[in-house]
Amino acid sequence: MRIKNGTALMDPDKFLIIAHRGASVQAPEHTMAAYRLAKELEADYLEVDVQMSKDNVLVSIHDLTVDRTTDGSGVVTDMTLAELKRLDAGSWFNQKYPDMAKEEYTKQKIPTLQEIIDEFGKSVNYYIETKKPEQNEGIEDELFELLGQNGLLDESLPEGKVVIQSFSEESLKRMRTFSRKIPLIKLERDPITGPDARKRFEEVCEYAVGIGTYFERIDEDYIKTAKESGLLVHLYTVNSSEIADKWKGIGAHGIFTDNIPGTRV
Ligand code: G3P
Ligand code: CA
Repeated sequence: MRIKNGTALMDPDKFLIIAHRGASVQAPEHTMAAYRLAKELEADYLEVDVQMSKDNVLVSIHDLTVDRTTDGSGVVTDMTLAELKRLDAGSWFNQKYPDMAKEEYTKQKIPTLQEIIDEFGKSVNYYIETKKPEQNEGIEDELFELLGQNGLLDESLPEGKVVIQSFSEESLKRMRTFSRKIPLIKLERDPITGPDARKRFEEVCEYAVGIGTYFERIDEDYIKTAKESGLLVHLYTVNSSEIADKWKGIGAHGIFTDNIPGTRV
């Protein structure tokens, strides 16, 4: 799939600010507080990693375990929603980042994707990642059902109201069978650079409109070749305006950032 010029959010001439896990420098990642702040800071997208609880509810959390970002321990997919909801998802942030700490963060819980959508509706744009689909069987079906129930797959919405990303090619290809239209982004941890990059981009074009990649492992040629192949390139995780500015100048289409105010260019 190749992106066309002049189509709203997915316009290749735009430089998108994607709030990585919410405004995660200023607030505990993947909490409602972080997403509220990202909206206030006028991010173009709220980035939401999703996994499934033991009882098949889509929840917003990055790690496979709750250990780093809550006061509990255990594997997310082994815990029911009720068990996940008992956890404090904000106090760790106050302890780790006392300069940013706020009393209200101690009340933060792991939100469900439905709760995030209930709060923001169509007033924001969502950039959702299916996390570890091999350990979250059926996550694509659950995600599309939820998006459909909330009117987020409606044809009348601007292109790119919801973008879906994954490191898993299989997961993306499955979702492509659900919708020809929804923008899909292939995430790369070890991007293929050099002469083999073009072949890689041609493969990705079969099912995705862009690549999300680690900016420290690419070069100018990578962006140039991706663009010639008709792909968008979004870079993670860019937390300074100098780096954002550099890659904007080179031609990237946007950044995932923890630090929205610090990366405005
Ligand atoms: O989704 C872009 C970036 O978030 C991928 O890395 O590990 O932060 O989800 P991660
Ligand atoms: Ca992510």
